[in-house]
Amino acid sequence: MSLSPEVETQATDTLAMSPEEKATIDTILAENAGKPGATMLVLTLVQENVGYISPPMQAYIAEALDVPLSHLYGVLTFYSFFRMAPIGRHKISICLGTACYVRGGPMLIEKFQQVLGIGMDQTTEDGRFTLEVCRCVGACSQAPVVMIDDDILGRVNPSDVAKLLRKYK
Ligand code: FES
Repeated sequence: MSLSPEVETQATDTLAMSPEEKATIDTILAENAGKPGATMLVLTLVQENVGYISPPMQAYIAEALDVPLSHLYGVLTFYSFFRMAPIGRHKISICLGTACYVRGGPMLIEKFQQVLGIGMDQTTEDGRFTLEVCRCVGACSQAPVVMIDDDILGRVNPSDVAKLLRKYK
């Protein structure tokens, strides 16, 4: 794939994109670049296979597909399915379904953000946790509910948050 020197430098920066990630993206581009709806197709496949689409990846893909970066960015921000940063080792999903919302979900969000020092849909610098909101997980009788990976934690109190996180390394 022939790219401008600027994009090539950014895209091959090991801090920006690993050789494995670049190889995966190159394969996806080679197989799909000419197809109808290639932008959505390529982004979906990169999301599924790499797990996220960082700004350097976005620049690389936009140039390879010959579409404006702003268009690509617009697609990425329109669909919540896409992530622009890698997900942490542990995913924390705070339920904001109706039962959890009225029983303190928003306060839990505030507390998790405060303890972790990140906002929603962000990952801690050490790559340990990613914080996000989810909808009802079917455990309304235990509201407010938080999921950490596959664990469903019920009746979570904001004062429990720091202790809860200790067991996830
Ligand atoms: S609303 Fe949160 S589990 Fe149902």
